[in-house]
Amino acid sequence: MCGIIGYIGGQPALEVALAGLRRLEYRGYDSAGVAVVVDGGLRTLRRAGKLANLEKALAESETSPQGTVGIGHTRWATHGGPTDGNAHPHTDCTGAIAVIHNGIIENFASLRAGLERDGHELVSETDTEVVAHLLEDELATVNASDGPAAAAGGAGAAGPGEEAAAAGASRLTEAFRRVCRRLEGAFTLVVVHRDHPDVVVGARRNSPLVVGVGAGEAFLASDVAAFIAHTRSAVEIGQDQIVEARRDGVTITDFAGNQVEGRPYHVGWDASAAEKGGHPYFMLKEISEQPAALADTLRGRLSGDAEIVLDEERLSAQDFRDVDKVFIVACGTAYHAGLIAKYAIEHWTRLPCEVEMASEFRYRDPVLDRSTLVIAISQSGETLDTLMAVKHAREQKARVLAICNTNGSTIPRESDAVLYTRCGPEVGVASTKTFLGQVAACLLVGLYLAQVRGVLYGDEVARYVEKLQAMPALVGETLATIEPMRALARTLADARAVLFLGRHVGYPVALEGALKLKELAYMHAEGFPAGELKHGPIALVEQGLPVVIVAPSPRGRSHLHSKIVSNIQEVRARGARTIVIAEEGDTVVEPYAEHLIRVPATPTLFAPLVTTLPLQVFACELALARGLDVDQPRNLAKSVTVE
Ligand code: F6R
Repeated sequence: MCGIIGYIGGQPALEVALAGLRRLEYRGYDSAGVAVVVDGGLRTLRRAGKLANLEKALAESETSPQGTVGIGHTRWATHGGPTDGNAHPHTDCTGAIAVIHNGIIENFASLRAGLERDGHELVSETDTEVVAHLLEDELATVNASDGPAAAAGGAGAAGPGEEAAAAGASRLTEAFRRVCRRLEGAFTLVVVHRDHPDVVVGARRNSPLVVGVGAGEAFLASDVAAFIAHTRSAVEIGQDQIVEARRDGVTITDFAGNQVEGRPYHVGWDASAAEKGGHPYFMLKEISEQPAALADTLRGRLSGDAEIVLDEERLSAQDFRDVDKVFIVACGTAYHAGLIAKYAIEHWTRLPCEVEMASEFRYRDPVLDRSTLVIAISQSGETLDTLMAVKHAREQKARVLAICNTNGSTIPRESDAVLYTRCGPEVGVASTKTFLGQVAACLLVGLYLAQVRGVLYGDEVARYVEKLQAMPALVGETLATIEPMRALARTLADARAVLFLGRHVGYPVALEGALKLKELAYMHAEGFPAGELKHGPIALVEQGLPVVIVAPSPRGRSHLHSKIVSNIQEVRARGARTIVIAEEGDTVVEPYAEHLIRVPATPTLFAPLVTTLPLQVFACELALARGLDVDQPRNLAKSVTVE
């Protein structure tokens, strides 16, 4: 939700900000804006709609703002509609301060009332604008007192002019700290000031902020993608911390003003990974990257003697042996990965495993204790619902293992241990390759739990490991033969609705297929357990309704297979157009499938790694046939940092 970039250095700030926003637009695209510090002034431009509208306005303006300090924002609207006036940056009464924000300031109504009582004129409907006005007041207070100026460290051997500038910057930071202490809710804030051209200041609470450090320049951004073209040296900013970025480095303090160390890290991918690489949409590129993404998730986790190694975990094997119950918390697609994990974890470990939507978890007071393992799954590592579930679990003394795709993000930091999915950046709003990474990571955790608890014999684990290692190739095979699904999807662009049915691990796959279609094609789509259909939803079936059925393998679980064959017949009898996803060699389904999409045979629990692929392609192609933008579906944002 909302993409943020701040820059200070030697390059034109406007260009750096716009290039950063292009990479962050997946986070929100309701409006965009920039502010650049120019010769003792501040030039701000904001436009409703996608970034292209702002770029057009800049191209049409007589002079584009020149300066080497600036901020940029792309918005996913919360408070106030997507208008020019509500677009960020927001400014104070004097026009000296410009603020960009991601998150929600929960006490903004009372803060706004107080500011208005004091004579401030707020012109937007946003919660963000209060920050600019609070900062105006706090800065006036700090400037009027001697203390903070005296506290202006770091001027060192600088001359008098530089010393004064450093003192001014320090006052701005101190005033900003005071503002942050007054805010409730979740926020990443980045601020520039017309009179302090040597500093950009940022803060974070429950919302992402990373710092990029280059030669003579620094970047503050929601995501490393915003500055990856300039530097791969990043610094993590912790919870309730303020960063003061200057050309010669960054200083990090907590909200009380104590200096803290940021954790530096190297970004393991480069700018080309965040490009479309010849594909018209990121989503198409990310679908095609799935064999490599899956291989990357598995790489190094399966040791030569078939032992599972969770190399980034900070929990001991004994901790895993002590577990007596597993909860999985996640949202959306990640929740579906969790549902698949439940089948594997319960089957392999015999531990009870509950899967819960993170947004509901903490509100129903789940029974947690020291022996509970909570697995939090999140691509972004910033989903606020999941983050809050993690915090609740840890407060209740449960151990938390994060499965995450984004290094340096908040959820891994707040967890006891982390398993990164290493799928590379995912820019398309709909999760594709990271879903596969999440499922694979969950399978690894399941096997690891079974291994350390001694529930599976070594040779059994070895057999699973061997099959898991073969999965990236099978994913590649599935994608290579997926054209029939594409062609079929194009013929269904006018369908009114689509139902998805599955059983066992095919049920979460059906849910995922329906979610993809809803979010990309804006169509009514529902996923059901095939057996549940006759308890109500079958009333939806009418002549010509496309029904996608994810058939389980006929090998080994034939009782399940025969049941789904009956379910296919039930919907066919009521006029449905049946689209069956079935493994190679399953001839039994042939007479009942109007359209048969083949996937390679896999072990039962690994089937979602291939059966999901036709459903991703189906949703993507159908949305494209309807003329929609699959990378930026309406009303959505990639990283949901509000509850
Ligand atoms: C759907 C989708 C979302 C996310 C959900 C959780 O395609 O991408 O449903 O899965 O918002 O996001 P993360 O995994 O970042 O916590």
